[in-house]
Amino acid sequence: MADATCCTIPLAEIAEGQMLVRTINGREIVICRTRHGIYALDNICTHAYARLNEGRLRGTRLICPLHGASFDVRDGRPLGAPATRPLTAHELRVVADRIEVILRPDASVPQPR
Ligand code: FES
Repeated sequence: MADATCCTIPLAEIAEGQMLVRTINGREIVICRTRHGIYALDNICTHAYARLNEGRLRGTRLICPLHGASFDVRDGRPLGAPATRPLTAHELRVVADRIEVILRPDASVPQPR
């Protein structure tokens, strides 16, 4: 198994209700801070390759800007059409006021369709 790739971000860079994008090892990751926690997911919609950080974050629901599909940021599952496939959710932890994102080494990079 390949090693996990990790990225650290100061916690102060993202306020509650906001999103932040980082490219980690060639992969776009959106970090979503909600009142329920902080989550890291692939930033590319599984429906037709839109950047989800250009959409809206409503509570734990991430809404795609292109056709309106929505995903649960806690686990990446689709909540509304037209997307049917989940987003890959990545491990995230907060250590000493820094966010650490650890990519799943087995996750494939989303490709344009
Ligand atoms: S690209 Fe996201 S819903 Fe179509």
